[in-house]
Amino acid sequence: MGSPERSIFAPASWQHSSTFAPDMSQPNEDRLKTLIGHAKEYGFVFPSSEIYDGLSATYDYGPCGVELKNNIRQYWWAAMVRLNEEIVGIDAAIFMHPTTWMASGHVDAFNDPLIDNKDSKKRYRADVLLEEHIAKYDQKIAKEVEKGRKKFGDAFDEAQYRATNPNVKRSQDRIDAVEARMKAALDSNDLVALRQLILDEGITCPVSGTANWTDVRQFNLMFATELGSVSGESSTIYLRPETAQGIFVNFLNVQKSARQKLPFGIAQSGKAFRNEIVARQFIFRMREFEQMEMQYFVKPGTEMQWYAHWKEKRMAWHRALGLPTDHYRFHDHIKLAHYANAACDIEFQFPMGFKELEGIHSRTDFDLGNHEKHSGKKLRFFDPETNESFVPYVVETSIGLDRMFLAILSAAHQVEKLEDGSEREVLRIPAPLAPVKLAVLPLVKKDGLPEKARTIIDGLKLEHNCQYDEKDSIGRRYRRQDAIGTPYAITVDHQSVQDDTVTIRDRDTMRQERVPIGELGRILSDKVDMRKLLKQL
Ligand code: GAP
Repeated sequence: MGSPERSIFAPASWQHSSTFAPDMSQPNEDRLKTLIGHAKEYGFVFPSSEIYDGLSATYDYGPCGVELKNNIRQYWWAAMVRLNEEIVGIDAAIFMHPTTWMASGHVDAFNDPLIDNKDSKKRYRADVLLEEHIAKYDQKIAKEVEKGRKKFGDAFDEAQYRATNPNVKRSQDRIDAVEARMKAALDSNDLVALRQLILDEGITCPVSGTANWTDVRQFNLMFATELGSVSGESSTIYLRPETAQGIFVNFLNVQKSARQKLPFGIAQSGKAFRNEIVARQFIFRMREFEQMEMQYFVKPGTEMQWYAHWKEKRMAWHRALGLPTDHYRFHDHIKLAHYANAACDIEFQFPMGFKELEGIHSRTDFDLGNHEKHSGKKLRFFDPETNESFVPYVVETSIGLDRMFLAILSAAHQVEKLEDGSEREVLRIPAPLAPVKLAVLPLVKKDGLPEKARTIIDGLKLEHNCQYDEKDSIGRRYRRQDAIGTPYAITVDHQSVQDDTVTIRDRDTMRQERVPIGELGRILSDKVDMRKLLKQL
């Protein structure tokens, strides 16, 4: 059977729908739609080239989005590079010599196992179908555990309940059995066994509801293009599918120029490209996205200690943001990537459920070793203490900037019922990451209030992103700022002109107080300074 017809154009869900309360009782898909609508309406994320109906799995960041994205990147960069003197940064080119991708294994092994449903003509990743199937058993377990918690109250012992409750045990046994077969099939690249597992588990297509599946096939995810303008002299190069290889090929340049000894790290953030087949779920899985990666070069034999170290450090980075702690969990990989001897994900509870946000991988000497072989150049570290020269091992931390953006947006977005019965939509973005830090609102457009407001902005804008807004009632202006997550809004009124004071309103409590204009800089810094986050690390 031939490939089903697939449209590269945007699904209808991109079209903006009016926003509504994303309470947890909403189905997951509706919560994501709400978020997509909000992101578009308030200038966070737009479908790419929307006037031509968009291009699937590609997105543009709007005025608020680019600020939030820059702030996340800045928080990551400061935490990785500024706070660790043994970590330095680079910014490598997206295009790399084609041999890079032979050496890294991406030409041979950067594949997804794909399966099509013959009735709906929809294409899926076979491993994702199985993971989603496993997640259903996980949900059953979570429900059982919740029941137990309610029944036994304070005396509830979750570990014992999980080990003894027959329903929980049955579901856990199913999970273990499916995981074991999936791992065996993936490890041995046995695509027939993978398909058989899908059939045996009775997994059906969410669209057609049938189990009329094609064979499973491997599909390489790299985008290829041609380098060179003269006909016949061009050669195939790839858009990098990860930023990490730009770090590996620069290992010696950086180690020597920055005079680093082991252990040391190289950090980088930038674009990566993957021809994702199952490209759904908004900015969670895109074809063009950004990564923030750090490769930590260590002495062979010490990698597990550093792997544990970076797991802890990266989780602390997330926790400092103050998003709900139960939204994070570690998940060990069932199937290790071709380069890893240990790997886990930090998963986050997105509107679609728990999904990978960041990967922490112990990549052994796979990359440097293979670049040595393919380039013929020694990529070694000479240890003057032992007089030994060796290829270092690598522990990497790799987080998607867009996924982190979605994590923050989804956890921050709330619709609150107010005392007067009205509703407000608010983004409780961690204040240091908020796109706009302060809104300055003259009560009326006359009597010198706009001029006063502009003077206040002039005094603060060197340090903070401030926004001036004089349109509509003050209540509507507050709502607009809540909706983009501005931590503070100040109102400039007639008293301000007389005594140099303003009312300042807190986004989260909605409380207002009168303060001297001279105090604004300090009040603002106390709340929005990135140092607040970095000090917790
Ligand atoms: N260098 C290792 C590496 O690239 P990965 O697990 O394939 O590992 C790392 O990717 C992170 O990049 C993921 O945890 C995810 O946050 C992000 N990422 C991967 N593919 C993505 C995509 N198609 N769209 C958005 N983010 C993606």
